[in-house]
Amino acid sequence: MAPPWLRALRAALRVYVVGVAVMMTQLLRRLRGDFRPPELPPQPGRVAVVTGGAEGIGLSTARRLARLGMRVVVAGNDERKGREAVSSIRAESGSDSADFLFLDLASLASVRRFVREFRASGRPLHLLVNNAGIMMEPRGETDDGFERHVGVNFLGHFLLTLLLLPSLRVGGAGGRSSRVVTVGSATHRVGEIDMADLHGRSAYSAHAAYAGSKLALALFSLRLQRLLDARGDRVTANMADPGVVDTALYRHLWVGARAVQRGLGWLLFKTPDEGSWTPVYAAAAPELEGVGGRYLYNEAEAEPAAAARDPELQRRLWAEACRLTGVADETAGL
Ligand SMILES: NC(=O)c1ccc[n+]([C@@H]2O[C@H](COP(=O)([O-])OP(=O)(O)OC[C@H]3O[C@@H](n4cnc5c(N)ncnc54)[C@H](OP(=O)(O)O)[C@@H]3O)[C@@H](O)[C@H]2O)c1
Repeated sequence: MAPPWLRALRAALRVYVVGVAVMMTQLLRRLRGDFRPPELPPQPGRVAVVTGGAEGIGLSTARRLARLGMRVVVAGNDERKGREAVSSIRAESGSDSADFLFLDLASLASVRRFVREFRASGRPLHLLVNNAGIMMEPRGETDDGFERHVGVNFLGHFLLTLLLLPSLRVGGAGGRSSRVVTVGSATHRVGEIDMADLHGRSAYSAHAAYAGSKLALALFSLRLQRLLDARGDRVTANMADPGVVDTALYRHLWVGARAVQRGLGWLLFKTPDEGSWTPVYAAAAPELEGVGGRYLYNEAEAEPAAAARDPELQRRLWAEACRLTGVADETAGL
């Protein structure tokens, strides 16, 4: 096996190649004048939870959902930013259509508390947008001892989704299906899952950790749809890939990449609002009613990486996620 430094270098190069390829397709799209937000019907009476909804793609998503008439719960780990986001959404929509609820995905106890508080509100849930994320941080651990990319991006959302399924089922009983939209990334295409070292204890690469967590989310979303189908739930699960978007997510990247973002972001990156179009499309497009197990990109269906479709890897990862988060594996026979 290659030494850890070589594997880290390979992971970094693969992530940057994918990023540059996405930026080039975005550049062509912009030069063609092809950036138009999706036209979506109003969504009155529907309730959405958006994780990481206080800034970046999540805030733009929450804003657009509120504009469509949804009641939005901004779920975030920064009370001040969350309350500011809610005020701005309320001011813009002219109604009290947004609330903040504290959620720290780096703590399973916080995820459980969030779900208890949401359920105590007595509201059904029609849409869960698993958006929050961290990218390429130096190695660190969550409260539960998980490597942070695995813990925040994947396991926190895994537990959140499973615990919110009863509320989503109630939401889906009203005629239209409820939806779980998980925000993915093109980097899942170069992601790898090492089941023997999920938390990067023997060798850590920040690039591999991010790409691996995004592959984990794709594996999760596809297996979730199998579970929902098997149970006949009126809930769907899809991935939404926002593209390369000009947000604070890039704060841990090397200085050269951040310079490109600062200097050429306006041309090569999507704005946070443009980045929200695919998640919002996944959340509200009428043609996606009852349709799950899709990978959406640029407001259209795309093919996820072959690794994401590997049923054996899906099964093993799901079982391990259940063990780590302390929930029963309801997919065991699937
Ligand atoms: N930007 C891109 O080019 C791009 C490309 C592909 C995919 N994505 C995905 O899009 C999603 C949104 O990213 P973004 O670009 O909008 O980044 P962002 O502006 O940094 O927003 C990420 C949000 O997640 C929140 N978050 C981080 N850790 C959390 C935790 N432990 N608990 C709860 N919330 C937490 C952040 O809150 P704090 O900052 O307060 O911690 C922030 O509000 C991520 O899943 C990312 O992987 C982004």
